[in-house]
Amino acid sequence: MLAIESSCDETGIALVADGRDILADVVASQVALHAATGGIVPEVAARAHLRWIVPVLDAAFADAGVGWSDIDGIAVTYGPGLAGSLLVGINFAKALAWVHDLPLIGVNHLEGHVYAAWLADRGTDPLQPVFPLVALVVSGGHTFLVSMADHLTYRLLGTTVDDAAGEAFDKVGRLLGLGYPGGPAIQRAAAGATRRDVMFPRAWLGDSYDFSFSGLKTAARRIVDAARADEGLPAGDPEARLSDATVAELADGFQASVVDVLVTKTMRAAEETGAASIVLGGGVAANAVLRERLAAEADRCGVPLIVPRPGLCTDNGAMIGAAGARRFLAGERSGFDLDARPSLPLARR
Ligand code: KG4
Ligand code: ZN
Repeated sequence: MLAIESSCDETGIALVADGRDILADVVASQVALHAATGGIVPEVAARAHLRWIVPVLDAAFADAGVGWSDIDGIAVTYGPGLAGSLLVGINFAKALAWVHDLPLIGVNHLEGHVYAAWLADRGTDPLQPVFPLVALVVSGGHTFLVSMADHLTYRLLGTTVDDAAGEAFDKVGRLLGLGYPGGPAIQRAAAGATRRDVMFPRAWLGDSYDFSFSGLKTAARRIVDAARADEGLPAGDPEARLSDATVAELADGFQASVVDVLVTKTMRAAEETGAASIVLGGGVAANAVLRERLAAEADRCGVPLIVPRPGLCTDNGAMIGAAGARRFLAGERSGFDLDARPSLPLARR
């Protein structure tokens, strides 16, 4: 499967065999490009995809050492994501499918994040997820828990009622004066924390599997303002920065709050649905503390946990190849009328 991902700010193209084995996985990241604006400008993102998509394809073929005659189908993300970014990948995939007379398979980006759990790097034979399973997907735009009784079937257990977890990381990263994206910057800052005196709130939302992070963001703003006043910094002056020790403590407190809620709800869902395995995916799944906490809890409950390596948690083409191969085997084909679906959902309750 040749797989193309361009829904947000990474141009990813991969070659994946049997929905599992990564022959090549090339990602051109736009992080440096968007750091200047502190976030993604959609028009800039779409133009960067256009600039990089052909070199990324060439690099993927060179890495894999295969040719067009080895390809069975072309998988491409058609949503959710930024319309202009999605259209670059979709039209590129259509052109390649037309020229090489290959089937086209539209893939839901969120399904890709789940199916990253089935991927294997060259020469490795990792544990594969077993059904029934519970999957937590935490990314910049999405946060949800689903249960899967079998391949390609999802029951939504819970989702965020406001911000995505990654969005909260990015916003609080900005509040703390850390760069974009906030997730990795908060993880790095938090690793240096020596005090844990500041408690950030947790939004449990009762027994539901839903998540809410906007209250945490508001609390973070209040906590940061109080810390700035403590250090005698003038309000509204971004040049006057909190001490590294305080930034580390607040980053750690915020991260602990997000991780606590994500891990607690995922473990409860796994127990209540009798899950035989747990899958974690999405950009925030690259977070070391989340990975460690969930691994420890899953281990305690004796449920196998499958977490892709960080590079397969953030956006990439390989995960689209893994999901696309499943859809291909199930006989699914997309027409040349395949269109971008910026708000495409994955599952319903
Ligand atoms: O899945 P992804 O690459 O793109 C979307 O589909 O949204 O996720 C990007 C998100 C960003 O919000 C970023 O801050 C977050 O994932 N992220 C992290 C880490 N690495 C990336 N959040 C916390 N800790 C990390 N190490
Ligand atoms: Zn994503």
